[in-house]
Amino acid sequence: MIVCHCMNITDHDIRAAVDWMRASDAETIVTPGKIYHALGKRADCGGCMPLFLDTMRRCESFGVADVPARPPLLRRVRAERG
Ligand code: FES
Repeated sequence: MIVCHCMNITDHDIRAAVDWMRASDAETIVTPGKIYHALGKRADCGGCMPLFLDTMRRCESFGVADVPARPPLLRRVRAERG
């Protein structure tokens, strides 16, 4: 299914780009801009963004796994204020 008509990007292209980014870096934040860049394209009208974002969120590898809620340094500061 075509998601972005301006740049002819399909749901398959988006899933492949998300999977590729996640395989390259397990903690990267995946954004539409990064997906366009990975596909060698740039957004034009932006009309596809709602469907583009829905397609990204439906990818199994979209989420960042096991990132701590706060970095250890900030956890210690909060405990000291206590
Ligand atoms: S439809 Fe995607 S940028 Fe226009």
